[in-house]
Amino acid sequence: MAKNIFLSRLLPEAGMELLKQSEFNVDIHWDDDPLPPEVFRKRVRNVNGLICLLDDIINFELIDAAPQLEVISNTAVGFNNIDINYAKSKGIAVCNTPEILTQTTAELAWALLFAIARRIPESDTFMRNGKFTGWKPLLMLGGNIQGKTLGVIGAGRIGTAFALMSKGFNMRVLYSGKSNPVLDFELNAENVDLQILLRESDFVSLHVPFRDSNYHLIGKDELALMKQTAYLINTARGSVVDEMALITTLQEKRIAGAGLDVYEHEPALSPGLTELENVVLTPHTGSATIETRDTLAVMAVENCLNILRGKNCENRVV
Ligand code: DGY
Repeated sequence: MAKNIFLSRLLPEAGMELLKQSEFNVDIHWDDDPLPPEVFRKRVRNVNGLICLLDDIINFELIDAAPQLEVISNTAVGFNNIDINYAKSKGIAVCNTPEILTQTTAELAWALLFAIARRIPESDTFMRNGKFTGWKPLLMLGGNIQGKTLGVIGAGRIGTAFALMSKGFNMRVLYSGKSNPVLDFELNAENVDLQILLRESDFVSLHVPFRDSNYHLIGKDELALMKQTAYLINTARGSVVDEMALITTLQEKRIAGAGLDVYEHEPALSPGLTELENVVLTPHTGSATIETRDTLAVMAVENCLNILRGKNCENRVV
């Protein structure tokens, strides 16, 4: 009997095509919003393969609702939305989409860095509101980037790509976590303690995955270590930062600004965040380029198809 795949949301066309051409029965939630948990549980009852997104909560209840499940294929590199230990205990494969979004996400981190340091969204609003009355010596002053100190928290794939992109800006590069020979060799980067990184960096960018030990890695005390002229960039996961502590820090102008793509209670934003001028916000679009999202969709579908066909899948997390 043909196996069944459930796709929890619409994917870019390239992924949809591949799925349609497969030998499997495919059920699709033709919507842009996540399914309510009770509906989701019903939809996976007879499913062998699940292709899901990073905001689908794949907990033990969902997994128990799908007794035939063989594979959960996440259309993301992060997989903190999935109870991977429970999946593993049930013999279910979990796959992700690494590598292909590395450069794209690193580029967005830089876009946020530029946007906040040079006050781009604020300037754009100013122009659209007809406030530009001529060149002024003190208008929209931001912070220099070249020659400054860049602090990279988590020098894995994306953190490394992000740091390497600093080459043209002659920056001192600090990073925390495991030693990284590429950064040491290419940038003469310094592997330092988190506290030193926070104290000495002009730009702090987060690139750690979310796991319990990274919950509120950056809280009130860590923010207090940062320079008043420094900026925080987060394209990793919202819960790595204590969002309320960040809002207070920004309200009191104890750091210069923040560029955020991810939020602690996504898609909800903590009260006060959108009222701040010293913050630039994007809607979790780290991987959102046409090229990358196409490749991402194809990879997520291929991961699922490979497992269901009993083939090797190199993107297995468990
Ligand atoms: C991921 O794939 O985990 C990223 O957060 C997408 O932007």
